[in-house]
Amino acid sequence: MAPPHIMVIFGASGDLNRRKLIPAIYSLYRDGLLPEQFTVLGLDRQELDDEAFRERLDGDCREFLGTDPDAVAWQSTLQSVYHMTVDVTDPDMYPRLAERLAEMTGAGGLVPNFLFYLATLPRFFAGITAGLGRVGLLDEAGGNWRRVIVEKPFGHDLQSARDMNRQLHEVMGEHQIYRIDHYLGKETVQNILAFRFANSTIEPIWNRQYIDHVQITVAESIGVGGRGRYYDQSGALRDMIPNHLLAVLSIVAMEPSNSFNADAIRDEQTKVLRAIQPFSHDEVLTSTVRGQYGPGMQADGTHIPGYREEAEVAPDSKTETYAAMKLMIDTWRWAGVPFYLRTGKRLPGRYTEVVIQYKHAPNIMFRDSLLKRENVPPNTLVLRLQPDEGIGMNFNAKIPGHALNLGTVQMNFRYDDYFEHAPATGYETLLHDCMTGDATLFKRADNIEAGWELVDPVMEVWSALPVHDFPNYAAGTWGPAAGEQLLARDGRVWHACEACRADVT
Ligand SMILES: NC(=O)c1ccc[n+]([C@@H]2O[C@H](COP(=O)([O-])OP(=O)(O)OC[C@H]3O[C@@H](n4cnc5c(N)ncnc54)[C@H](OP(=O)(O)O)[C@@H]3O)[C@@H](O)[C@H]2O)c1
Repeated sequence: MAPPHIMVIFGASGDLNRRKLIPAIYSLYRDGLLPEQFTVLGLDRQELDDEAFRERLDGDCREFLGTDPDAVAWQSTLQSVYHMTVDVTDPDMYPRLAERLAEMTGAGGLVPNFLFYLATLPRFFAGITAGLGRVGLLDEAGGNWRRVIVEKPFGHDLQSARDMNRQLHEVMGEHQIYRIDHYLGKETVQNILAFRFANSTIEPIWNRQYIDHVQITVAESIGVGGRGRYYDQSGALRDMIPNHLLAVLSIVAMEPSNSFNADAIRDEQTKVLRAIQPFSHDEVLTSTVRGQYGPGMQADGTHIPGYREEAEVAPDSKTETYAAMKLMIDTWRWAGVPFYLRTGKRLPGRYTEVVIQYKHAPNIMFRDSLLKRENVPPNTLVLRLQPDEGIGMNFNAKIPGHALNLGTVQMNFRYDDYFEHAPATGYETLLHDCMTGDATLFKRADNIEAGWELVDPVMEVWSALPVHDFPNYAAGTWGPAAGEQLLARDGRVWHACEACRADVT
């Protein structure tokens, strides 16, 4: 159960609040995790009273509550929300907000613990926190807690991330800042920790002696939808790699911490990010790939427009919709083991997975048989983060018959077969963690900066060398040829995802 508090959401009319935050609050009510003394104050520029705000949410959010929503929990959610009309750029707004909160906690009898959620445009983040700081709303001296959840993107390069960290630290302590990456709220991502560190057979073979390489793929089948303007400024690299892909990498590659304490775990994650070999400018050319989709075809024959034809995208846009890279981690555990990362839009399926490819077994026993070493596929462990959440181990077995022929088979664990769990976005977990003061799954300042340190040289080289071959992959295909060559040069191939086949047909 979360302690009594007021959650103040900046950006109450926004997409994130409608699709993720209010539905997550509903889930927490349904699961009995919110106290009686819990209130949401939604802020935006709309002229609405509390009742009209509730009605709007009722209409906007229902489709995101899952099938067969619990009517009592949904009513509790709606009754807990209030509205205040504000313009965050107006300095007079902050004393008014302080007054409203003082009324709610004074005459209203609520407990003055405040969770501020910045679900608005990133350019407002620093101004909002400065405003809150000015009127004392971030002050914990009275014994009540004050926390701020900061949405992504956290900066657009290293310098801007450093600036943002400095601005936040001017008005509050690091322990009050919860930088959210909803990937870390996903059960399957957290399960990587359980899989690695709660099983005695896994960890001993989780290193360079056994592992040939690691692949991390975040594939999206959709285009940019209504986010063309934002995406065209950002691109696949900025949008996905410093946050989601490096978050997954840091969990896959970190050393065990000596406790489950937030700082102990985040220390290990930052250490591994800092151990990634930085790219020289020449290495950016050989170890990274960018791509942009052109028109293409879905598996069912439907035409898909190219990126440059999407709404609010420049017709000559040079923004990448695909990014891949090869990283090397300079630690005792990972020396010589490449980590290949890729992400892209309009790929043939939507899935996120980590593939651990083990080294070839010595072929001594089979050398006189018809089998050749290269014909024996290496073992792979596939951590399916979404969809079809689970873990599969591919290994070789003898095909029944007189000849000694091998076939690859799979041991498969599916979450759905073992656990009853409602579909979740990650926001439920992360909101509840913040409410209870557990920062383990949130990013610390150093962790964010380590991610940008890695990506900055890539952005520098990419912007200094304009692309001439965009679009260089057709929508509905696996990205540019250079993405395949990145692995082919090392004698490797991207793992073919099974789950995504269902997605495209
Ligand atoms: N949408 C998602 O699924 C998603 C996923 C991950 C991260 N995020 C992040 O979450 C944040 C919000 O994204 P979003 O998609 O919800 O954006 P959005 O739909 O554009 O919503 C922006 C919100 O900010 C409010 N706003 C804008 N200017 C304002 C002002 N001057 N004063 C007060 N309120 C103002 C808007 O309210 P009014 O215009 O009504 O005043 C609206 O409620 C961004 O940082 C985004 O990167 C979003």
